[in-house]
Amino acid sequence: MSKRSMLVTSALPYANGPIHLGHMLEHIQSDIFVRFERAMGNEVYYVCADDCHGTPVMIKAQAQGKTPEQLIEEVGVSHRADIKGFLINYDNYYRTHSPENQFFSQDIYLKLRERGYIFTKTISQLYDPVKNMFLPDRFVKGTCPRCGAKDQYGDNCEVCSATYNPTDLKDAYSTVSGAKPVLKESEHYFFDLPKFTEFLHDYVKQALPPEMANKLEEWFAQGLKPWDLSRDAPYFGFPIPDTKDKFFYVWLDAPIGYMASFKNYCDKQGIDFDAFWKVDSDKELYHFIGKDILYFHSLFWPATLKGSGYRQPSKIFVHGYVTVNGAKMSKSKGTFIQASTYLKHLQPECLRYYFASKLNAQSVDLDLSLDDFVAKVNSDIVGKVVNLASRSAGFIVKRFDGMLGDKLVDEALAQKFTDTAPLISQAYDERNYAEAIRLIMMLADEANRFVDSHAPWVLAKDESKHEELQQVCTQALNCFKALITFLSPVLPNVYAASQEFLNDKLDFLSATTPLTNHKINKFKPLFARIDPKDVEAMIEDSKQDLKAATSAAPAPTTENAKSADSAPTDYIPLAPEITIDDFVKLDLRVAQIIKAEAVPEARKLLRLELDLGFEKRQVFAGIKSAYKPEDIVGRKVIVVANLKPRQMKFGLSQGMVMAAGEGGSDIFLLSVDDKAPLGSKVH
Ligand code: MSP
Ligand code: ZN
Repeated sequence: MSKRSMLVTSALPYANGPIHLGHMLEHIQSDIFVRFERAMGNEVYYVCADDCHGTPVMIKAQAQGKTPEQLIEEVGVSHRADIKGFLINYDNYYRTHSPENQFFSQDIYLKLRERGYIFTKTISQLYDPVKNMFLPDRFVKGTCPRCGAKDQYGDNCEVCSATYNPTDLKDAYSTVSGAKPVLKESEHYFFDLPKFTEFLHDYVKQALPPEMANKLEEWFAQGLKPWDLSRDAPYFGFPIPDTKDKFFYVWLDAPIGYMASFKNYCDKQGIDFDAFWKVDSDKELYHFIGKDILYFHSLFWPATLKGSGYRQPSKIFVHGYVTVNGAKMSKSKGTFIQASTYLKHLQPECLRYYFASKLNAQSVDLDLSLDDFVAKVNSDIVGKVVNLASRSAGFIVKRFDGMLGDKLVDEALAQKFTDTAPLISQAYDERNYAEAIRLIMMLADEANRFVDSHAPWVLAKDESKHEELQQVCTQALNCFKALITFLSPVLPNVYAASQEFLNDKLDFLSATTPLTNHKINKFKPLFARIDPKDVEAMIEDSKQDLKAATSAAPAPTTENAKSADSAPTDYIPLAPEITIDDFVKLDLRVAQIIKAEAVPEARKLLRLELDLGFEKRQVFAGIKSAYKPEDIVGRKVIVVANLKPRQMKFGLSQGMVMAAGEGGSDIFLLSVDDKAPLGSKVH
């Protein structure tokens, strides 16, 4: 078999926030792949970096009184520590704010320009007249033009799901200064993506699994649009050659960061960079990414490479999102768990194992169910695998001076292991780790049945069964050897400790070769059970992280925030001052929810029937993501009772139920003292 040669990457985490367990899914997934491919004898390079540029980093640095360079340096240190803490083995973890990346970004841009793929166009955009900067969509908030919900982002409404332009918002304000934005014109540089339509249409079929390529048909049907790749100063990024005060949009230089990180490594190690990136390269190139950044990786990135004369990725591996206990990670529930917080309480291999046991090559979401996590890790790793060794090793060491016997007695069992090995390899290679783990645990069950049926602890009591005892323990330890070697991509530390204990170099390709007439070392504990209390402590700690984040850094989230929970809670500037006369215009009343039901056609809405004492009303409330209908019936709430009724698709909404929070699972109904009579006015 000829040796394969490949470059593997994970998406570059933003440098404006900490790494959390959602990010870790990706690093763990790619690290397992890399460890496996290396175990197969293939040549694998594995790189990542921090994604440093863009408005969010600039704003956050300002808010903390630092330069962006200082901020990314600090974040870089913590990201590296997290990555290392989870035993992720990058050859190079670099940053996009680097000379290599500047060189490649400008070089690629100039090649695109030379070949006629760049044009300019003047556009108008919202501008913050106080901060003197153009505002990305995520930095403008205002009232939704469709449903009237307040404090909605510039691109879509969290309440009614409308999408619109930031210029459509009513009462828009800049989340940077609170000022009212004005429209301002500016010349932008565009990449002519539509010219690559045909190429991309073919490309995605080869780089993505068919289900996913099919989904992209929608994008092609809508027609690809030119891509705006310039941003005006002030911006933290690379200057665009031959312009004044124009910078590359962060997403232009971010994927180029894959090349730059690799180049930085190649220069240090004397590796031939061009062999991997030239058009006719025979090396494999794989990107692991999350489903939210598919557009960038399957369209912009390959087109940029094609247009500038580089090879394109061989495959793009797309994973889903991590949820915790069945819901989006939530700061207030303490399930928005930072990598560093996890590592304070739990071993990295527990999460590596749990994620592996649930990961396949599809991009479905993966639930970290905390009870299941504890149960599975304890029962599989400790109960089925490590116990196999701990139960047998003592007898071998005490009774046989550490010597294993001279053969495996149960040939059928040994054969089963040998026959299953290629299936396990195939599953790893196809990134179907769940299947690999299933097969490994199936073998572990067989091995445990073998031990139970021979009961070495009984044999040990009978002098005449001396030889049988050695044989049974020898086979049990051989089973353990194979299992832990199969698990080596997932559990690198346990694997390393097992090599020491078995006094042998465990090689994946010879995992089932019998280890006989061989002296082992004394067994030392290889893995500690998870104590559920540690999980509770981690959740509590995560709630503390939230408090620290909201009090310390009133900084906005990412420019392309993909989930409300993916960065510290926004600081929303106070609205302009009002007088008491403004306030009394609001008629707020106490009401009781007497009926609640989901509106099946609306993602976010519950239909509520309210009793205001003097009358009953129907209200549609955007709280479905946070409340189950049956949990809120009987509850007293506060309603804006003089809000103009609104005709919705599903019926008339007569008022608004008041709630705090940012949407998603962070919605909190306002309550009132239970004694308050229905219909009473709130002053
Ligand atoms: N900086 C860009 C990527 C540039 S790649 C040239 C970015 N950064 S990110 O920090 O927001 O996300 C990094 C990776 O983590 C992405 O692949 C993203 O899909 C993944 N995840 C972030 N949150 C996640 C979950 N909750 N679950 C699973 N993966 C998630 O996007
Ligand atoms: Zn709306």
